Amino acid sequence: MSVPILSARSIVKSFGGRSWFGVAADAKRAVDNVDLEINEGETLAIVGESGSGKSTLARILLGLVRPTSGEVAYYGQPVDAFTAPDWATFRKAVQPIFQDPASSLNPRMRVDTTLANVLRRHKLAARDTLDAAITELLASVGLDAAQFHDRYPHHLSGGQQQRIAIARAMAVHPRLIIADEPLSSLDMSVQAQILDLLVNLKSSRNLGLVLISHDLNVVDAISDRVIVMYLGKIVEVGPTRQVLGNPASDYTRSLLAAKLVADPHIARARRLAMDSTAASAPQSAQPGFPPQTSRSDLQGVPR
Ligand SMILES: Nc1ncnc2c1ncn2[C@@H]1O[C@H](COP(=O)(O)OP(=O)(O)O)[C@@H](O)[C@H]1O
Ligand SMILES: [Mg+2]
Repeated sequence: MSVPILSARSIVKSFGGRSWFGVAADAKRAVDNVDLEINEGETLAIVGESGSGKSTLARILLGLVRPTSGEVAYYGQPVDAFTAPDWATFRKAVQPIFQDPASSLNPRMRVDTTLANVLRRHKLAARDTLDAAITELLASVGLDAAQFHDRYPHHLSGGQQQRIAIARAMAVHPRLIIADEPLSSLDMSVQAQILDLLVNLKSSRNLGLVLISHDLNVVDAISDRVIVMYLGKIVEVGPTRQVLGNPASDYTRSLLAAKLVADPHIARARRLAMDSTAASAPQSAQPGFPPQTSRSDLQGVPR
């Protein structure tokens, strides 16, 4: 089997509780002994409720945060041993996309300047090819350069801002995208479009994609493998069909139960059923629907 793009071994990240002698016993482990591999062209989803350590893990994989212990390696080479040129290669190859595109774009910078800066910094376009390169990049994310090149982020919708953030990531020909809830800040109607864009770019360029998402419908639709995290630990990992179709852990089952209620179709059917039942018999149970599971029900679920 080929070497993974990125691998993580025994990653721990603790916050707080630091004493003179190192990490004290009361330090909180946001990421607790995580191992994972991301292969070329693969879509790996990371799911789990808020606070389970997904974003911290993403930042560690991106090299933005140093783990307390453990090792991240890029094509087998530990990032701790990186030279400055290694870091430059890595920073191009592994690109982040964050939840809130507005805060990931410079508010004082026009769209074309944002993209031109990236292209120039990485020597990806000469002066006379810069405009053409920007036009092509904008087209690759579904935006017409004539209309968008001189806009500032605040002139753009959330979906358009996220398209610019994706264009900026794609400008450097990455091998891996790490997207932390890239749809969560967007309107429902726009989410599907941005997801489509990510999936198309990914397959046309054979990119690896780490998708952090709480939307299990999305995860089900596009990922090859799923990691389920709870309180910093991986509680389950496997092919998507297996993890979502036949989960091994109680925690994954409870996430799936919560998803069923969160699904708009099921939620609507459930509401309608409740309304009609309430009209006839207010105290009756709701047969035929999954039990209601709220976020708080997920707390303390045994693994
Ligand atoms: N910079 C930080 N300082 C202290 N605690 C943090 C910091 N970042 C994250 N945490 C804590 O680590 C845990 C995991 O957070 P996070 O990685 O953001 O989870 P998720 O992305 O799954 O919601 C949470 O309890 C959070 O409060
Ligand atoms: Mg997060």
